[in-house]
Amino acid sequence: MNILVHAHSGLRYVVLALLIAAIGSAYSKWQQNDGNDNKLYSFALISAHIQLLIGLILYVMSPKVDFSMMADKLYRFYTVEHSLMMIVALVLITVGRVRSRKAVAGLKHRTILFYYGMALILILISIPWPFRNLGAGWF
Ligand code: HEM
Repeated sequence: MNILVHAHSGLRYVVLALLIAAIGSAYSKWQQNDGNDNKLYSFALISAHIQLLIGLILYVMSPKVDFSMMADKLYRFYTVEHSLMMIVALVLITVGRVRSRKAVAGLKHRTILFYYGMALILILISIPWPFRNLGAGWF
């Protein structure tokens, strides 16, 4: 359990770095009118899906997930807010990747920019950063 929490905690930086790299690359490829696909979009998707998988295991095992404790800010955060928002972000990333693959050359990178951008914002506001006092650290 402890190993899983640490893996989930550390992997956030991999997901964030790959998402930011994908968004930056999508912006420059869009500006250059590049019609080719970009593997970076898939790497970001894969890292986010690994995070989802660990998150789902934690959801079943974690003592911080408890529907009878919803009046408490910390339990409510992990039971509903964090998990739900992250799943929405994961759906956005997946839909964005599929749509970008199918899109005509001129729209590929703009599609990533939109979907991954929205997902990044959701992820950033749903992470239990230490300053939010939700019992989680930086790593
Ligand atoms: C990109 C997606 C995600 C990111 C970046 C992320 C990030 C984090 C971070 C930083 C923590 C705090 C870990 C610590 O205490 O040090 C955490 C905890 C947790 N996350 Fe996620 N998470 C994501 C997706 C999910 C999903 C989809 C679920 C469940 C469906 C989930 C369930 C949980 C649970 C249950 C905990 C509490 C674990 C515990 O301390 O007992 N996460 N997450």
